Amino acid sequence: MSAAAPLAVAPELSAGALRAAVAERGFARVPGAAVAALLGPGGAEAALDAFAASWDRLEVDGFMADGGRYRRRRHANFSARRGVPGHERGPHRPHFQAVVHNSLNGGVERWFAPVEDTVGEGATLRALLDLGRGLADGLAPGGDWFVEAHQFRIEAAVGAPGLPTPEGVHHDGVDLVLIAMVSRRNLDGGETVVADAAGAELARFTLRDRLDAALLDDRRVRHGVSPVRPADTALPSCRDVLVLTWKRGLPPPA
Ligand SMILES: [Fe+2]
Repeated sequence: MSAAAPLAVAPELSAGALRAAVAERGFARVPGAAVAALLGPGGAEAALDAFAASWDRLEVDGFMADGGRYRRRRHANFSARRGVPGHERGPHRPHFQAVVHNSLNGGVERWFAPVEDTVGEGATLRALLDLGRGLADGLAPGGDWFVEAHQFRIEAAVGAPGLPTPEGVHHDGVDLVLIAMVSRRNLDGGETVVADAAGAELARFTLRDRLDAALLDDRRVRHGVSPVRPADTALPSCRDVLVLTWKRGLPPPA
């Protein structure tokens, strides 16, 4: 009798292949194991555990125009200058989206708690920033970038579903978006939808495992996430994700 088949190993994926996929289709979905393999020390188990644990220390988003209290978050901004590797963290500043990109919560400066220094300087976030920058440079070579990092936790309870994107399927108003799953606990729903600029659906999938990622050319495609609800109604549930965005140009005036 033959031995059991070995567990499937995630296909190796080079940053170049990822860049080609985004250039061709406008988006890519990447398994978490493949993302981790691209992160070097930042993708090591202990680094990822510490990174994920920081989601337990997010603060309530007080800017939900629908009155919702189901979203916790932290925020940071960085700049990446042409020809200079890496990302420099900027002074803490509000997050701003035009109403055209966020009809629910756009049009106002929203202040969120800052990403903790240990997370902002940590190997995992820095490696994810470098990964995304390579893709952003592929879309628009030779430029400067204004980069924002968002840690989100959406909580759901019986009769109170969580809405990861209450504004619906949308553009972020940037060039590149990287969405990485951190943790799903006791959760149903939360499907990621990718649509073209006219709204026609291109793909629908669930980011489930740690670091399962969606990479989006935000000028070409829209994205959204369906509501989440607890799988076991007796237990707490949450959806933790990291969202990184690159917008061409240096930071707008504070
Ligand atoms: Fe978004």
